[in-house]
Amino acid sequence: MYQEFAYYYDALMKNVDYQEWTNQVERIFNKYGKKPKTIVDLACGTGGVTNVLASRGYQVTGIDISEDMLFVAREKARKSGLKISYVCQDMAELTLHRPVDAVLCMCDGFNYILDKDRLQKTMNRIAGYLNKGGILVFDISTYYKLSSILGNSTMADNNEQLSFIWFNYFDRESGLLEMNLTFFDKQGRMYRRSDETHVQRAYTEEEIRELLQASGFSEIAVFSARDLNPPGKRSHRAFYAATV
Ligand SMILES: C[S@@+](CC[C@H](N)C(=O)[O-])C[C@H]1O[C@@H](n2cnc3c(N)ncnc32)[C@H](O)[C@@H]1O
Repeated sequence: MYQEFAYYYDALMKNVDYQEWTNQVERIFNKYGKKPKTIVDLACGTGGVTNVLASRGYQVTGIDISEDMLFVAREKARKSGLKISYVCQDMAELTLHRPVDAVLCMCDGFNYILDKDRLQKTMNRIAGYLNKGGILVFDISTYYKLSSILGNSTMADNNEQLSFIWFNYFDRESGLLEMNLTFFDKQGRMYRRSDETHVQRAYTEEEIRELLQASGFSEIAVFSARDLNPPGKRSHRAFYAATV
């Protein structure tokens, strides 16, 4: 996952407002009365949120499992003159030199951890690397979105430069959503085709709360994507926060 797709990711996310996404994170920091200085952004991808955080003065490390996503992230940071350490790591095996004040995992990062035990292990490691009073903030696609909106649907977009077709299959038993992506990228007079399969796991709020508690987190709260109200039954995205 996130090999060739890494180079299309920013084009597909062009309508995502990462400033606003970061505002939501800061709203949550404020609600908890936290003023973190050091932040690790897990599953940072091409650095959408990581770069905004660095430009707002936080000391940030971006971690991702995909070298291709990190390649794009590093290029963007270099062009913007931002000093960010980008590290290739599987977040389930998180290893840091020193603890940090906050850990983030934005835009579905935890949905990519397909196994509940592995997500538990990830949360355990995060808890172990947070300073006392540190905060974890993450957002995931909700069970409703993966099962009922994306699940068993086909999505497509047809632009002059980049077109894609996206076949999705949701398995209720495993809670896994398989997304088969095909891209056609214009190169001269031809289109170059590339294919990738992505799998995400749908987690219920109950499951996430249980996992956080088992990792020793407290003050667990769930927010909508835009404000500090709880998400609705049909919300597509939920932000979670918890402290150690
Ligand atoms: C939808 S992207 C989100 C990227 C970024 N956080 C954003 O807001 O645009 C999901 C990212 O999770 C990363 N990822 C998936 N599994 C991971 C793992 N086990 N450890 C670290 N990163 C992972 C992928 O490589 C990809 O960059």
